Amino acid sequence: MTATKGLEGIVATTSSISSIVDGVLTYRGYNIDDLAEHASFEEVAFLLWFGKLPNAQELQKLQQDLSNYAAIPDKLIEQIKLYPKDANTMAALRSAVSALALYDEDGDDMSLEVNEKKAVKLQAQLPTIVAAIARTRQGKEPVAPKAGASIAENFLYMLRGEQPDETSIKALDQALVLHADHELNASTFASRVTVATLSDIYSGVTSAIGALKGPLHGGANEAVMKMLKEIGTIDKAEAYILEKLDKREKIMGFGHRVYKNGDPRAKHLQKMSRELGQMKGDTSLYDMSVLIEETVTSQKGLKPNVDFYSASVYTQLGIEHELFTPIFAISRVSGWTAHILEQYDGNRIIRPRAEYTGLTDQKYVPVDMR
Ligand SMILES: CC(C)(COP(=O)(O)OP(=O)(O)OC[C@H]1O[C@@H](n2cnc3c(N)ncnc32)[C@H](O)[C@@H]1OP(=O)(O)O)[C@@H](O)C(=O)NCCC(=O)NCCS
Repeated sequence: MTATKGLEGIVATTSSISSIVDGVLTYRGYNIDDLAEHASFEEVAFLLWFGKLPNAQELQKLQQDLSNYAAIPDKLIEQIKLYPKDANTMAALRSAVSALALYDEDGDDMSLEVNEKKAVKLQAQLPTIVAAIARTRQGKEPVAPKAGASIAENFLYMLRGEQPDETSIKALDQALVLHADHELNASTFASRVTVATLSDIYSGVTSAIGALKGPLHGGANEAVMKMLKEIGTIDKAEAYILEKLDKREKIMGFGHRVYKNGDPRAKHLQKMSRELGQMKGDTSLYDMSVLIEETVTSQKGLKPNVDFYSASVYTQLGIEHELFTPIFAISRVSGWTAHILEQYDGNRIIRPRAEYTGLTDQKYVPVDMR
């Protein structure tokens, strides 16, 4: 038995949710470029869960359900208020989502119908949880979700405590579409491993949040913003990157296990970043990002991934960097739950093997003789 480090190239399951072939990402057969251009995040979530784009009636029903489920239990809000103000936001989200299971009256009901309902509930409640965590950290009262708003609008409303502008809503909605699913990425795999023991959907999503938190996965967008802040101004960018590469350090937001010729999502976020800067009359963050991209690409041949331009997009939307990865989770929970439903359907426990490299032929020695 020979191990494949990082499971690179290993095909671990079949899936009909999203695919990456020759650098093209599709959700249920629809090119991500087409969806990013035309679809709302709610349409995409429906597509991921149910395998087809919703008709008008189905979309309206989903929007209504998301709205009905968006409030979170008062007791959970009380818990969130007790979290340390400086707690890691992904650790807070992971704890809150785990606790959410305690308040679901459908508890351990594992029927398909109830699991689909739990998927919609989780999608509705994650934005409310993230907004509550954000406001509590700032010493403000959480804002209750407002009826009839889209996920993007509602999240920004609950975060800011006032009605967001159309540009911000549209930009966030598109970012959510772009982050919704991504084949068998690390967090999705973690969620499938967890529920393949026939554990519940909340356990699966909690595992996924834990995996997304790491800087080699979802945590990279936050790390990118920290880097941009550290660099400060465009005149220092090139030297900063060259020094890091010289020390063989990784530049966050670049490279990808699957895409070697560029991440198809990055161009949409780059465009959004440029447009937001132009609208604000300050493209300095965008310009610095472009210079960093040029430097990394010319030095290492590495292209930006989804996280690189997300950082400047979210910052220009007035969002603090500690919320970047939780926002990724608000979107990706649609993909996680779609994969969890798929895993339950025709499940087999996921239990690979390890290549043993430890000591052999050891003999037990009593403790007083060691
Ligand atoms: C995404 C990522 C984890 C993929 O990892 P992987 O497929 O295991 O690739 P490796 O980490 O083995 O990298 C292969 C080579 O490219 C280099 N490399 C990869 N990403 C790099 C980066 N962002 N900056 C500098 N060098 C990088 C590695 O140092 C390694 O070089 P070596 O062969 O000389 O040692 C990796 O590219 C990375 O860490 N990127 C930064 C984090 C990030 O943006 N994550 C979000 C992904 S959407």
